[in-house]
Amino acid sequence: MIVFGGSSSDALAVKVAEELHLKKGELELRRFPDGEKYLRVMDDVKGQKVAVIQSIHHTPDELLFEYLLLVDTLKDLGASKVTGFIPYFAYARQDERFKPGEALSFKTVCKLIETAGTDEMYTIDSHRHRVLKSSEVLKIPNYNLSAMPLLADYVNNLGIVKEPLVVGPDAEAEQWAKIAAEHLKTDYDVFEKKRLGDYRVEVRPRKASAKGRDILIVDDIISTGGTITEAAKILADQGAKRIAVACTHPILATGALDKIREAGVEVVVGTDTVPSEISKVSVAPLIAQQIKGT
Ligand code: R5P
Repeated sequence: MIVFGGSSSDALAVKVAEELHLKKGELELRRFPDGEKYLRVMDDVKGQKVAVIQSIHHTPDELLFEYLLLVDTLKDLGASKVTGFIPYFAYARQDERFKPGEALSFKTVCKLIETAGTDEMYTIDSHRHRVLKSSEVLKIPNYNLSAMPLLADYVNNLGIVKEPLVVGPDAEAEQWAKIAAEHLKTDYDVFEKKRLGDYRVEVRPRKASAKGRDILIVDDIISTGGTITEAAKILADQGAKRIAVACTHPILATGALDKIREAGVEVVVGTDTVPSEISKVSVAPLIAQQIKGT
């Protein structure tokens, strides 16, 4: 197998290839003077299985198109199987028509990924809130992995929070809170959230009290940081001791980390599905483990 990384995940592809002692595929990527993308596969892939790793974040349209171009080219050059790893899968939040006439972006993106020639697809902590069965939108085999055990181990080893209450800041985060809590053999609670706008959310606690407890807040994405900040403020008001935060995809809009730290959070960690200053945990072992099985 050859491991290719698109321009958003090249460093991650290097780690995965090294971990498995596999060849890292080489690409020539540049732009024509008119802005169009040029892509050339430098390896002979005829009859080979290939893995393509490409997170789709920050400039999702460009990175998605690059993924499609790469997969279609690999197939055209005779690759026998393309396994797509899309650690951060953009457009997953628009999986429903919230207002009449809206695009079902999640469905459209899935259709494109499949049509390009992806034989099998993996995502990591994908934001599938309403479309729970991926077979509703994809015919190819697809799997959603979780980075929560890796994140929970990392935070645990820092020794900042001890036997923490794991908190999911909204109902959808229950799936991640449950995984992290089970991994750490501790308990969890989930808050309720109402989104008031792109930057504003209202978060309400449900049952557990944080009084006297260390806390680990977990979520799939930190974007503006509003969700985590509001949850951390409530937990601090309830009398929490020390608060740590772990998220899979640190999208991090400007000012997000400052806001979270000002709310009393001592440590914020994320993974390298989205490279950032808090991307301390690599998902390379998670991807490598799947490649071994393909
Ligand atoms: C939403 O349901 C997600 O799970 C995250 O909670 C959300 O994307 C975080 O966004 P922000 O950091 O802007 O509050």
